[in-house]
Amino acid sequence: MNDLLLRACRREPVERPPVWLMRQAGRYLPEYRALRARHDFLTLLRTPELAAQVTSLPVDLLGVDAAILFSDILVIPMALGLELTVADGTGPVLGGRIRNDADVARLLPFEPEDSLAWQLEAIRLTVNTLAVPLIGFAGGPWTLASYMIEGRGSADFRLARRLLAESPALAHGLLDRLADAAGRSLAAQARAGARVLQVFESSAGALSPRDYQEFALPYLARAVRAARETGVPVIVFAPGANCPLDRTVRATGADVIGIDWRTDPAEARARLAECEVACQGNLDPALLFAPPSVIRERVAAMVAGFGHLGYIANLGHGVLPDTPVEHVRAFIDAVRLVARPGAAI
Ligand code: CP3
Repeated sequence: MNDLLLRACRREPVERPPVWLMRQAGRYLPEYRALRARHDFLTLLRTPELAAQVTSLPVDLLGVDAAILFSDILVIPMALGLELTVADGTGPVLGGRIRNDADVARLLPFEPEDSLAWQLEAIRLTVNTLAVPLIGFAGGPWTLASYMIEGRGSADFRLARRLLAESPALAHGLLDRLADAAGRSLAAQARAGARVLQVFESSAGALSPRDYQEFALPYLARAVRAARETGVPVIVFAPGANCPLDRTVRATGADVIGIDWRTDPAEARARLAECEVACQGNLDPALLFAPPSVIRERVAAMVAGFGHLGYIANLGHGVLPDTPVEHVRAFIDAVRLVARPGAAI
């Protein structure tokens, strides 16, 4: 078993930093597109054999040091009773979006072993065949709420922000349900065999500093605490959060903090000097459209900025759908190359 990721999460010595990519099991891979031509997205998600197959693709094709479960953050809203549709070309849409107390009262009780049994089965199937650790994940409570209120993705989540302003008690009621659901989903994934858990608080950057403190951070902290009770390390990724990194780390107890591409690696480390936390990130995903020589140069600077200890090489957000696979390979190879002691590029 390649355990580089586990050692990096615990800030133990490594021969080189582990490398994987957020959204590595997706559309930039021709093999994924071929499977998608035969099955719709929800069928892929809900058929454990197919989900296991997609999860393993980047490990087999690219040699990354970790697999991330092929699933989606929107399976929790779906389990709570919102209808998820994913049409070709447009993003996913949730039916029955949240507008009032009655909408929250209608949400179904959340039992991961029951409503997300297929997700847990996909984990059990995948871990049997993988030679690298499997990462389970969930959306952060605020991110789940933002999609459930908006009904879809949004550049600024203005409907969701408006609801926080108009109906804070309703928002807190919803976030309470989602903190519980996210925490229990993560813990169930760990019990099924996930060795690391990541929380995607992807809508963090939509909130003012003040509202991040009130509506995001306390609920994110609750979900992370529930996940960590399983003993599995947790990565918190809150891109664009208008909050100092060390405050998010202290409030949540994260083992690893995801760094987005807008943050300088050495500055992130300096901010976190007092925290016992590993870092993950943070090459701009758009840089994978640059020539491989530029990718190698930027990877070298990134690894130098973070240092080798307690570091997981990754992008600063998900790999973009049209990214050339050869450039993804250049990124992975560059981490291996620059991480060799004394290596020059
Ligand atoms: O490769 C992986 O990382 C594993 C699986 C994964 C998916 N979604 C599969 C997927 C993960 C970790 C996610 C997380 C996710 N889903 C997030 C948070 C991550 C982030 O980037 O901040 C969010 C906000 C979603 C919601 C979602 N699902 C959106 C906005 C979209 C459409 C646009 C997009 O980014 O692809 C999806 C659909 C989706 N989720 C696809 C995949 C492979 C594409 C579906 C298709 O084949 O058409």
